[in-house]
Amino acid sequence: MGRRVRVKAPATVSNLNCGFDVLGLAINEPFDTVEIELTRTGRIEIAEIRGCDTLSRDPAENVVGPVLRAMATSMGVDTGFRVIIEKGIHPGSGIGSSAASSAAVAFAANLLFDNAFSLTDLVGFAMEGERLASGSPHADNVAPSLFGGITLVRSYEPLDVIRLHLPPELFVVVILPDTEVKTSVARGLLDRQLPLQTAVRQWGNVGGLIAGLYSEDYELISRSLEDFVAEPRRAGLIPGFSDMKRSALASGALGAGISGSGPSVFALCRGEASAREVMESMSRVMHGEGVGFMAYLSPVRSQGAVIC
Ligand code: HSE
Repeated sequence: MGRRVRVKAPATVSNLNCGFDVLGLAINEPFDTVEIELTRTGRIEIAEIRGCDTLSRDPAENVVGPVLRAMATSMGVDTGFRVIIEKGIHPGSGIGSSAASSAAVAFAANLLFDNAFSLTDLVGFAMEGERLASGSPHADNVAPSLFGGITLVRSYEPLDVIRLHLPPELFVVVILPDTEVKTSVARGLLDRQLPLQTAVRQWGNVGGLIAGLYSEDYELISRSLEDFVAEPRRAGLIPGFSDMKRSALASGALGAGISGSGPSVFALCRGEASAREVMESMSRVMHGEGVGFMAYLSPVRSQGAVIC
């Protein structure tokens, strides 16, 4: 048996309303942990998956398989891997469950390969896990899970990931209802084409949000947190979504919306005290709906995947 590394990678909130498939941020909790070691078998063996009994240990059906395969191929080596996965993030939650496992295993394997790859390279490999999980190799969860902070995927071909400026007072509330939404299903609801007018509104907000982050202009950040593309199609998948969003804004959130493809709902807030109030008001809505849920409050996490 070879060297062994253990890495954790954080949950992420993607899209941030206006940035479908291009914007995302990392939060402190929950996270996935992966332990890997190199073997001489030439095979990928998923020895154990802790914390989730619905995921397959077959490397052809688990996100870590294509990620490790792509990395070994790129290195030109026929090494084997033995992997243990600890799922802290429930699959189908909208906070980057498949992305965190993909990011963690890419980061861990890179350590065993003596850091042969850049973080952007690792995003490219981790996208292979996303391709398996949802049928679409999107990077807006794997990028912040690897880089930390808030990231922009400026381009997919060639891959160009930018870590954006992080205003210090930004806090994130995530409410995860006790339901599952498959990303592939949520993506299937989206229009394949957009009216020009809708695109103009959406990219105006992307520019506004990024300008707001760099100038630490919380008002501008707030005005820019609108979604005319995914939210109108997906809101119906989430119990209590409109009421939760309304109550978050009424309690002082800068903005609120669907986290990734849902069912998690996020709110961005200025300062921890405001975030706490927003979390309480969103939680009251969920109690009223009679749906079980988890609530998370976190600053935007500046670190991505790390050894643990
Ligand atoms: N950008 C992706 C989507 C994220 O909204 O489908 C999925 O987690």
